[in-house]
Amino acid sequence: MAMEFADKIRRLPSYPVAGGYGESGPLARLASNESPFPPLPGVVEAAARAIAGANRYPDPSSGALRTALAERHGIAPARIALGNGSCDILLAVGEALLEPGAELVYAWPSFSIYPHLAAASGARAIEVPVDGAHRHDLAAMRAEITVATRLVIVCNPNNPTSTALPFPEIAAFVADVPRHVAVVLDEAYCEFNLEQDPEESVELLRRHQNLMLLRTFSKVHGLAALRVGYGLCGSDELPRAVDQVRQPFFCNAGAQAAAVEALKHGDEVTRRVEANLAERLPLESGLRALGLEPAESQANFVWFDVAMGEDAEEVEADVVAGLAERGVLVRAGAALGRPGALRVTVGTEDENERLLAGLREIL
Ligand SMILES: Cc1ncc(COP(=O)(O)O)c(C=O)c1O
Repeated sequence: MAMEFADKIRRLPSYPVAGGYGESGPLARLASNESPFPPLPGVVEAAARAIAGANRYPDPSSGALRTALAERHGIAPARIALGNGSCDILLAVGEALLEPGAELVYAWPSFSIYPHLAAASGARAIEVPVDGAHRHDLAAMRAEITVATRLVIVCNPNNPTSTALPFPEIAAFVADVPRHVAVVLDEAYCEFNLEQDPEESVELLRRHQNLMLLRTFSKVHGLAALRVGYGLCGSDELPRAVDQVRQPFFCNAGAQAAAVEALKHGDEVTRRVEANLAERLPLESGLRALGLEPAESQANFVWFDVAMGEDAEEVEADVVAGLAERGVLVRAGAALGRPGALRVTVGTEDENERLLAGLREIL
């Protein structure tokens, strides 16, 4: 007799994983919005020192990291949620807030983990299409909030569309959401957003107890493999609930130590943002020269259509496969909510040139 699984196993979509693991050779890995820069030597050393004591469990409260983040952002340590990557926090927020009968509102296309929150909990997901410029339609999202809504997620800058909303629009939206609804402002890419200082949204936490700003060390800090993220919250209620639904020791010792050290190198973060921009601009020009129209990016990746209409998904799959044959890995839009689109991480100059050369040949 076959095993019987929980209903959610039928509902849960599979996370669209990138390829290329276990392969050697000069692959251009432009599918996961990672940093092309390795962690700083001091950060690697800090992680290695922590791993030398790996026979002990990690600090369950992530004390040193919590203190460093509290000082950095001027927020009480108890208002910070730590996690095994920010995905871990997102899933825990879903588990803590959602259940059958509850509703969750987010834009679409947006980060591919959001649909999991509803599928895992039995709550209803309301996906609000982005506007013609690939930006969140906040008015339409606000219109979907009802007494049943428990959670609204705004991704700014948005993955996969790369667009950002002006801070005053975000601030007005958060102020307009009823207080019984938790708002997660997913800012995984906020350091790349040239229109907004990452500290600006932190100020919203003073006014909104229902707000969580979700951040990660995976992107600009280049620590994707270690898995460490955090949520800055308007009260200690949400961090407490998030901790209640998770296993203890969710943030490993190497990750905690590396993140503490990474926070000491703000100058390097600025340098990396500048380097990313210096590569993004010629990449966007190169795409335009091929007749493609990237969305207005405020992130370390770009989003554009290679095809539209009935055969969009087929053309997109051919382009993704053609690029992979040339050693360039990118993300297909069909799995992200827009058949015919591609999401491409800004890589090194050489990687971006390989992408453009591949597209030139294929299209
Ligand atoms: C918008 C967004 N949020 C959160 C994450 C999760 O990142 P991590 O779990 O590595 O912190 C990602 C990763 O790609 C992302 O794009």
